[in-house]
Amino acid sequence: LATVVVAVDGTSGSGKSSTCRGVAGRLGLRYLDTGAMFRAVTWWMLQHGVDVHDPDAVAARAGEPVLASGTDPDGPTIAVDGVDVSAAIRTEEVTRAVSPVSTVPAVRARLLAQQREIIAPPGGPGGGIVVEGRDIGSTVWPEAEVKVYVTADPAARAARRALEEGGSDVAATEQVLRERDRIDSGRATAPLVQADGAVHVDTTPYTLDEVIDLLVDLVERTL
Ligand code: C5P
Repeated sequence: LATVVVAVDGTSGSGKSSTCRGVAGRLGLRYLDTGAMFRAVTWWMLQHGVDVHDPDAVAARAGEPVLASGTDPDGPTIAVDGVDVSAAIRTEEVTRAVSPVSTVPAVRARLLAQQREIIAPPGGPGGGIVVEGRDIGSTVWPEAEVKVYVTADPAARAARRALEEGGSDVAATEQVLRERDRIDSGRATAPLVQADGAVHVDTTPYTLDEVIDLLVDLVERTL
């Protein structure tokens, strides 16, 4: 397990984050939430008045925000320019803007380099890691020992997410999830796909604990 990379990709709101944190915790691995990195860049763009729907404007400033990701599954953190934005990146404003920002190749290129450095630090052993995102098994780390592609029924995802958000409107939540999936799957650079060799898990009928058990089993059987 010292160097294993577990790549978990999938649609928005399929329970990836809780699942991946649980799996990493159970196996004593690090955890990287690459979605949080895209959200942090998006948050920075909004803070700096950049039009997030103008790819050239986003690309021009893509190199500016300095990100730092913590990889403890019990309390992952993300900081931009030294400010912890773990909570700030979860607002509806960021959620609506993140998929358009994530289509911009200059944004993807710089985060890709940083993600690879976190997975395998140039200075020495970083330790095994569970990495969550949309393009981990296909682009960021195609050589991952374990690859999982997680999906769930959109209506079930929306109901779960609306509950987490304190009873927000289910239909509106489903619409935002579907729109993010549409943009993430349709973009030219590193779209969301089931990577070669990835095991597809539809989480719709399972509880969180059942999905964690399933993935822990999968990792243990693979190694
Ligand atoms: O996982 P999360 O929902 O926080 O991701 C937010 C957004 O970041 C996704 O909808 C997608 O647009 C983008 N993303 C990406 N590639 C990744 C991870 C996230 O494009 N590896």
